[in-house]
Amino acid sequence: MTIALIGGTGAEGRGLAARFASAGLRVLVGSRSPDRAAAAVKALQAGRGDLPLSAATNDEAIAASDTIVLAVPFPCVSRLLDAQHARFKSGALLIDVTVPVVFDGAQPRLLDVSEGSAAEHIRRRLPDGVALAASLKTIPARVLSGVAPLDCDEFVCGDSESARERTIALLRLIPGLRPLDAGPLDSARTFERMAMLAITLNRRYKSRDARFHVVGLAT
Ligand SMILES: NC(=O)c1ccc[n+]([C@@H]2O[C@H](COP(=O)([O-])OP(=O)(O)OC[C@H]3O[C@@H](n4cnc5c(N)ncnc54)[C@H](OP(=O)(O)O)[C@@H]3O)[C@@H](O)[C@H]2O)c1
Repeated sequence: MTIALIGGTGAEGRGLAARFASAGLRVLVGSRSPDRAAAAVKALQAGRGDLPLSAATNDEAIAASDTIVLAVPFPCVSRLLDAQHARFKSGALLIDVTVPVVFDGAQPRLLDVSEGSAAEHIRRRLPDGVALAASLKTIPARVLSGVAPLDCDEFVCGDSESARERTIALLRLIPGLRPLDAGPLDSARTFERMAMLAITLNRRYKSRDARFHVVGLAT
């Protein structure tokens, strides 16, 4: 299976690309710039052997993939999806990782998204034939960048049972990550606030690793 990382040159995208490639998936590291995509692949390969990573433009990555992870800053999502609308394959799955947070100087602020969440905002802008899940919003890039098992849970919601099942199957490939089915897409409203909470905790406790683990579930 080929998985595309849109924003694959960023901290979160690079970390996810490495984790999926380490799990044996073929990963297209997407960028607006072929040179930045190639540099990200080279940096990811350094010291890690021959991971199945390739560089691509965002246009190429979206057109070639059945599974696409969107890991770009939220403020650019609308323009990007409008420009890419015709390139999505019918039946593709988009996994939205975005958190609608902006930084006023060093101060993080959650944006008030009129649809309720970044994920619902994205749903409005995707072709009908593309399934949408929201996940991986509460896993910090710094944790992804290592090789140790992630040792946390990740919440998955989506616009269909099939979108959630496809996402959960993918996440199960990453060591130490327990995916939890959190139901319909509007659960992303909660995850996005939890991501903001993790940012706040990191700042208070001088960490970059805060993430979540749910107790009391028999899974
Ligand atoms: N960092 C974390 O710990 C973390 C954790 C959970 C979720 N997230 C979410 O994951 C997403 C990515 O986070 P990040 O920290 O990796 O962000 P980032 O480094 O700021 O950006 C990721 C990539 O997005 C692309 N990009 C930037 N501006 C763009 C624009 N105007 N149009 C199209 N592409 C653009 C850039 O790639 P090119 O210039 O190569 O095209 C950039 O390398 C965000 O929505 C964030 O909220 C982040």
